This record gives sequence, structure tokens and C-alpha cells, in this order.
Amino acid sequence: MIHKPSQPALTPVPASAESLLNLRIKHTRIKQVIDELNTLIYPGSQDSILLVIGPTGAGKTTLARYMVEQALEGATSEMNKDAGLIPAVYVEAPSSGEDDFSWRLFYTQALAELGEDLSAPKVAYGIDPTTGKMVRPRGISPGGLAGLRTAVERCLKERDTRFVVIDEAAHIIRQTRRSRLEIQLDTLKSLANKGCSQIVMVGSYDLYQLVSLSGQLARRIHVVHCERYRQDRPEDVLAFTACVQKFQSVLPHVWGDQLVQYAQALHENTLGCVGTLSSVLTRAARFAEADGRWTVKALERALLTDAQRTRILEEILEGEAAINPSLTRNLPPIKTAKPHRTREAA
Ligand SMILES: Nc1ncnc2c1ncn2[C@@H]1O[C@H](COP(=O)(O)OP(=O)(O)O)[C@@H](O)[C@H]1O
Ligand SMILES: [Mg+2]
Repeated sequence: MIHKPSQPALTPVPASAESLLNLRIKHTRIKQVIDELNTLIYPGSQDSILLVIGPTGAGKTTLARYMVEQALEGATSEMNKDAGLIPAVYVEAPSSGEDDFSWRLFYTQALAELGEDLSAPKVAYGIDPTTGKMVRPRGISPGGLAGLRTAVERCLKERDTRFVVIDEAAHIIRQTRRSRLEIQLDTLKSLANKGCSQIVMVGSYDLYQLVSLSGQLARRIHVVHCERYRQDRPEDVLAFTACVQKFQSVLPHVWGDQLVQYAQALHENTLGCVGTLSSVLTRAARFAEADGRWTVKALERALLTDAQRTRILEEILEGEAAINPSLTRNLPPIKTAKPHRTREAA
């Protein structure tokens, strides 16, 4: 009989740099955006399209995925009763590399998220909500664009999907000629209406163009700004520093308590974007792990270069200047009538 050598007591393995990738800090900005979205997403809402716009690295994708997970978790008991239910789906707008946005690819991805097996016989799509059986399409070629679109509408309805997140939605704009943009957006709006779902489009500042397309559409779109933390707002500086503190606490064996003193420098370098902060710190932790010890050099090597930072800052400033008017909501001054003097007061 082979005797196993006695095992040493298990000591916790220190978390490595990769664990920063799985970290999801529920920081102030994220909470604000989630609260706003949760308030505006409800059955029968008139806001069929919500735009979540912000700089690259603000953490929009992370937020979007979290929203969907949250919706699924919130509906666990309903989903246990009705296996066909999919309260929310996340789809990334495909970048096909072609001139025109590929709606075919987009619908196909949406159907996959909605649990449709497109490799199944092409005549069968959709599930009858009462019998749970696959049903046949009626009069539309399921492989064609119209068929795919109808299938998405049906699925959204049958799955009782409350909202669809379209991430990287700026791809739709970049790959669409301006003259056709309104038609594309109309497509999404009617998809939302027919499927009885709301559409949450997530992307960088170029998404903002959608708002100016037409009054009719603008009325139906609500913009939520997933903004960077600004260095000129004390509350933003505090919130950003709290994020650095959180990142510090996840890898104590790498940087001990040495990280938070660089909060201001990190704020400056990452332009107040938590996703960018995460990328910089992940790199810094890997450099430190490779060097065998933490030094400020590891952090310096991980920072954005001046050229990268300048390019991102330009995009942010341009985007903020464009988006701010669409976020300014002013109640016209209310003219108060002079109070009538009553007999008693007179
Ligand atoms: N709240 C957060 N907490 C921790 N890490 C985050 C958070 N938000 C984003 N990140 C990290 O930052 C990186 C970039 O974020 P991402 O959501 O892709 O940004 P965006 O979509 O705005 O460009 C991701 O790898 C993610 O893991
Ligand atoms: Mg993203």
C-alpha cells in the first residue's frame, strides 16, 4: 500500500492579478445608472429605447451585463415555474467589417440569446407558451431577414423579455449611412414595440447622434450618461478614491496599503474611468508579480501613455460637449399669480 506523504496544512493561495478581472465594484456611478435604468424599465413604459452613453473604459459593458444578471436573478422563482421565461438578454452589436450593419447577424445572435436553436429544422422556430412545443412559422421564410426579425419579435413576446441590451450599439451607427439611420432606429423601435420589450443601447458618445435624428424618435429615447469621475468634483474624487481602495484591498500581498496614495495620480491618468483603472492596475499587478515585488516602477509601466490619454481625453471632451445639451432639462419658470387678497386679510 502506498502511503501518501502527509499533506501540509492548506494555506490560502494569494489572489493573483487576474482576480481583478472578476472584481465588480458597485461604485457610485454604477449605482446611479442602475437606479435610473431600473426606474425607467417597467412594463408599458413609453421609453422604448434607452441609451446608456459614456467614455470607453467607464465600465458600461460590465454594467450592462450586471443589469441582465440582476434581472435574471430577480426572476428566479418565475423562471423556475416557467422555463421559457427570459426576462433580459444581452447582445453585442456585431461589427461585420462591411459597409452596412448586418441585421442578419444581429438577429441571429439575439435569437441565440433567446434560446432559439437555429440549427434545428428551419421550419421550426418559437415555442408555444401554453404547450411548450415548438411551433411553425406562418407564411414567412424563416431564413430571410424578415423571418429572422419576426422570430425575434415572437421570442421576445413569448419569453416575456422585459429588456434587450445592445452593447457596442455605436457599431449600428458607424456602419450605416446617415440617410438610412432613421430607418434602422425605426426598426429597433418597432422591434421593441412588437416584442413588448425595451431596448437599452449601450455605447460610446457617437451613439448620441440617434437623439438628433427626428423629433418623433427623440421623444421615445431617454439618455443616461455613464459619466467618468471628474477631478473637479469633490464627490467624484472621493468615489474614485474609494474604488482605488477597493482594488487595493483585493490584492494585499501585491501592494499592501501602498496603492491608495496614488489615487490622485491614477485619477489623472485614467481620466476617472473605473474600467481603465482596472486595466492599469491589472497590468501593474502582473508586472509586480513578475518582478517578485511591488515597486512604483510597476505602476508607472502600467499607466496609459500620454498619447493614449490625450486621444481618450479628446474623445471624452468632444462627447461631453455634444451630449450635455441632451441631458439638460429645464423646467420653464413658473409664473406665479399674485395671491388674491381675501376679505379677512384686507
Ligand atoms: N465596476 C467595476 N469593478 C471592477 N472592475 C470593473 C468595473 N467596471 C469595469 N471593470 C473592468 O474594467 C474593464 C473595462 O470595463 P468595460 O465594462 O469593458 O468598459 P466599457 O464598456 O465602458 O469600455 C473590464 O475588464 C472590467 O473587468
Ligand atoms: Mg464596452
